[in-house]
Amino acid sequence: MRWQLTTLVFQSLLLLAAASDKYCSGEYSHGGDHCKKFEFDSTTDEEKCGSSSGSKHGDNSVNGIKLSNCTTFYDISDLPDQDIDDHTTKMAQLITNVFENGGTSIGYGYVENIKDCRGYTSGYIGFTTGTNDAYTVVKQYLKHNPKSKLRKSLKELKRLSQLDFGDSGRADTSKLDKHGYMKAWQHAACYDARFIQTQLDVGHAMYLKPAMKYAASVGVHSNLGKAFFYDTIVQHGWQYVEPQINLPRILQLTGARRANESEKDYLARFLKTRRQLQCCSPSSVWNESADRVSDLQKLLEDWDRNKDLKHPVKLDAFGVKVKGTEDLLYDSENCKHKPKHSKGVKPTDLPIPDTCPNPLMS
Ligand SMILES: *[C@@H]1O[C@H](CO)[C@@H](O)[C@H](O)[C@H]1NC(C)=O
Ligand SMILES: *[C@@H]1O[C@H](CO)[C@@H](O)[C@H](O)[C@H]1NC(C)=O
Ligand SMILES: *[C@@H]1O[C@H](CO)[C@@H](O)[C@H](O)[C@H]1NC(C)=O
Repeated sequence: MRWQLTTLVFQSLLLLAAASDKYCSGEYSHGGDHCKKFEFDSTTDEEKCGSSSGSKHGDNSVNGIKLSNCTTFYDISDLPDQDIDDHTTKMAQLITNVFENGGTSIGYGYVENIKDCRGYTSGYIGFTTGTNDAYTVVKQYLKHNPKSKLRKSLKELKRLSQLDFGDSGRADTSKLDKHGYMKAWQHAACYDARFIQTQLDVGHAMYLKPAMKYAASVGVHSNLGKAFFYDTIVQHGWQYVEPQINLPRILQLTGARRANESEKDYLARFLKTRRQLQCCSPSSVWNESADRVSDLQKLLEDWDRNKDLKHPVKLDAFGVKVKGTEDLLYDSENCKHKPKHSKGVKPTDLPIPDTCPNPLMS
């Protein structure tokens, strides 16, 4: 009996181990030679979150980075531009939403402290109170609806946005709790179509448009490639204050597109670098999402079918099919009903916040 039990325990441990590195083995294993290029130190993000100032890692670390100007983003005004059509935008947003929220109901009303050092994660692409983008959304929204209860949180959001990056104070939510941030965000998302549109407007200016520029800069023009860049920028950002994990770093480590290299082959190298970065990272925040890149790699394999994103796509690891006909303007997960239809609500074309003075903060 005893022996059998031990065998059983041993077998389940093996199974567990196999399951946990299902997406991080072989050329994606944690700690292989391919990890050296990322130059990660051994401190995890979880540990970094606990430190109160940036001093312990010296000046060139992720910790305690000062804003060197009025924006946290690289200046990309010189990169070429390209458009993305409405259907592709919708597909890209739905695909990323499945990865971020587990399904195709867009999480406008989602608010949670996921204890990742970024305070509250809120809304459809996870705007966080600790990294300035939730502040930007609230600030833009209050221009349209100055009476919203979110106003009470504005001062605290501004204060958080002025701390150094890596300062553990950015994770603080105590004052936001006092001002009813969670409830006010959810209420606005469930009742006001304008708040949904503001989230989309800011998401486009901060992530979608920059993603299109970065894609154009390396000759990526397919709809599928555009969706990959959107997903990457939403997850990894393009901020100079998080230099180790951002999209520009992934591009740099992928290297330039080779002479005669097809877009498909280039994208394969790009996704490989991204997944290796996730698996090599000392933080479990990143390796847990290697399944997401695995799904994108599968879409890439069927290039002829998927390159234009005209057909529904299946995301295997998440068990979800994205059709492109889903309702983008209703968060059925977090809200009991559709927001009031408001005819006056139209998209606002906001500028990319990469220049000074920051056009989204003023
Ligand atoms: C991620 O890394 C952590 C810590 O190294 C490990 O315990 C966990 O099993 C890994 N998860 C995956 C999906 O590889
Ligand atoms: C690129 O392809 C062209 C035409 O197929 C060929 O003549 C050329 O040698 C190739 N260049 C490289 C660097 O492979
Ligand atoms: C702000 O500073 C960062 C880091 O030095 C730089 O990458 C970025 O281009 C600067 N942005 C502007 C608008 O000067």
